[in-house]
Amino acid sequence: MDRTELLRKIKEEVVGLKESPLCQERVKNKVFPVVGEGSHTAKIMFIGEAPGKNEAETGRPFCGASGRILDELLASAEIKREDVYITNIVKDRPPFNRDPLPEEIRIYGPFLDRQIDIVQPKALATLGRFSMAYIMQNFGLDKQLAPISKLHGKVFEAQASYGPIKIIPLYHPAVAVYHGGNTENLKKDFRVLQQFI
Ligand code: URA
Repeated sequence: MDRTELLRKIKEEVVGLKESPLCQERVKNKVFPVVGEGSHTAKIMFIGEAPGKNEAETGRPFCGASGRILDELLASAEIKREDVYITNIVKDRPPFNRDPLPEEIRIYGPFLDRQIDIVQPKALATLGRFSMAYIMQNFGLDKQLAPISKLHGKVFEAQASYGPIKIIPLYHPAVAVYHGGNTENLKKDFRVLQQFI
């Protein structure tokens, strides 16, 4: 099976998922799971937390307020959105945009692990503390875990199933929304990603 077929299979499995309580929102609120989008041969994979309202309504990651900031940050680093792959750990929207629960990360995390193994990016850019913690733990970097204020913009080396990989924790773009649209610090971190394009 090629990458596109393998990714389609993940989408089918997520759509058919019954295990998570978050799936029940789909019918009730006419919303969709958000599996991921972008290049199937991307060198950089961005990993957010969970879909927000706009994302769940459209089935597309980062298409609301956080998405507009992400687009600005990508443009500032001269990275084309269509050249990267964008996904989240949790594929269904938690009610009221609350933080994902450990149980939800346990259920959806394996889909993300498979997406990484299929796309085989050279770099994982985590957006926010939840994806930072999940990815660093999964790639054996638990001992180096620290608050995101200490780790953002740093490059960690790890080993994926298909070869070496770099992990770059970044602040979640929503941070800029809460700080009156100030994106300067985030832009500085995004420039670190240029070397992987
Ligand atoms: N926040 C996220 O973490 N992911 C999205 O897709 C949108 C907002």
